[in-house]
Amino acid sequence: MPVILVLCLVISSVMASEAINRADFPDGLCSGLLPLLTRCFEGAVKEGNKGDSIWDTFIRRPGRILDFSNADVAVDQYHRFKADVDLMKDMGMDAYRFSISWSRIFPRVQPYVTLYHWDLPQELEDRYEGWLNVQIVKDFNNYAYTCFKAFGDRVKHWITFNEPHGFSLKGYDSGIQAPGRCSILSHLLCRKGKSSTEPYIVAHNILLSHVAAFNTYKLHFKAKQGGAIGIALDSKWYEPLSDVDEDIDAAHRAMDFELGCRLPTFTGEMTKLLAGSLDFLGINHYTTLYARNDRTRIWKRILDDASSDAYVIRTAFRHGALIGERAASRWLHIVPWGIHKLMGYIKKNYGNIPVIITENGVDDANSPFITLDKALKDDKRISYHNDYLSNLNAAIRDDGCNVRGYFAWSLLDNWEWNSGYTVRFGLYYIDYKNNLTRIPKESAHWFKNFLRKSAPRK
Ligand code: NOJ
Repeated sequence: MPVILVLCLVISSVMASEAINRADFPDGLCSGLLPLLTRCFEGAVKEGNKGDSIWDTFIRRPGRILDFSNADVAVDQYHRFKADVDLMKDMGMDAYRFSISWSRIFPRVQPYVTLYHWDLPQELEDRYEGWLNVQIVKDFNNYAYTCFKAFGDRVKHWITFNEPHGFSLKGYDSGIQAPGRCSILSHLLCRKGKSSTEPYIVAHNILLSHVAAFNTYKLHFKAKQGGAIGIALDSKWYEPLSDVDEDIDAAHRAMDFELGCRLPTFTGEMTKLLAGSLDFLGINHYTTLYARNDRTRIWKRILDDASSDAYVIRTAFRHGALIGERAASRWLHIVPWGIHKLMGYIKKNYGNIPVIITENGVDDANSPFITLDKALKDDKRISYHNDYLSNLNAAIRDDGCNVRGYFAWSLLDNWEWNSGYTVRFGLYYIDYKNNLTRIPKESAHWFKNFLRKSAPRK
């Protein structure tokens, strides 16, 4: 009876907008919804001969993580992965996205494996400054080769990089993430870096590494293993703040960033190799922002070249209100229609390439003042997934967007990088004080119900 009551509450809470079920989607959409990853989930920091990664080093520096935590234990998925896969199977999920940790060298649930989710071996950082050195291309390619060879009989979906844009900027411009280098424009107290070109050198080497791994897979493994390889890009939707041309242009620039002369040049051969180096495009999409032309930051225009982010895009106010409701993470505005527009943009500009939503989700605050009962009643997360999925469905059905899969972020609450344990993104609540017990939130029941109503599987 109490369970039925909970479900009724859940269903009524999403009645405001129309409830969606997997059966509403065309056949063949992969619906494994659960991305997990190494550093934020597995813990076991010293086990299995693991070496340090740049994140292990970064975490040890004082003042880097909001709640002063580290990820030594995280949510202990290293030891509990079997039970966690059972949680997914019980929910009816049929795919599972996770990452291999480069610095550490599982079925009815298909693995979607990411090769690089930000944890570069510290040794490579010490030896030649990691992503800043073109030597990384060869080393990444060797690492990718090793993984394809070892796991390719079981892994049919590979993702080379997770959010390259995010880690180039946060690791080498703002410096808020590992390895913590910042550009001179970010803050003058920065210990290392202080160059406005580093994020672009890093991005250049990432692209070369992606192409190298893509070609290695194509040349040595694809025919035998029959898998696909892509990349997961972090992509917001930018909506012009007003109808004036300047703001519309600013939104275009934000979607399709122009680098001007700061990007190291690609040879003609490299450009050719890069074109089409994807079997699918992974999109990590969480939020939408307004873009407006910003004429105020003159100092930036002087220091940067004119085609760059001189015209800075930024969150802005329309009629005094920020776009959408905000989640616990202040950058996350809940704007479900943004995913519909983004899918249309990708279809129009990138030849309707197969797209997999590799991340989509929303967080709540983790605070000692929130009772367990309250934390489990995550109506906001249910509406978020329901409404984003409805918009995604409209993009597929009404506009013919080629979307092949959707992964919710995330199965479990976990250690959220700089925010430590202060936020919770999971469908399952982690009881950090009680042996890291996994407790389903209402959203987990909602997802199970969503998947249960799927079309019969062939
Ligand atoms: C981006 C990252 O891929 C993932 O590691 C992170 O925790 C989520 N988005 C939420 O911020």
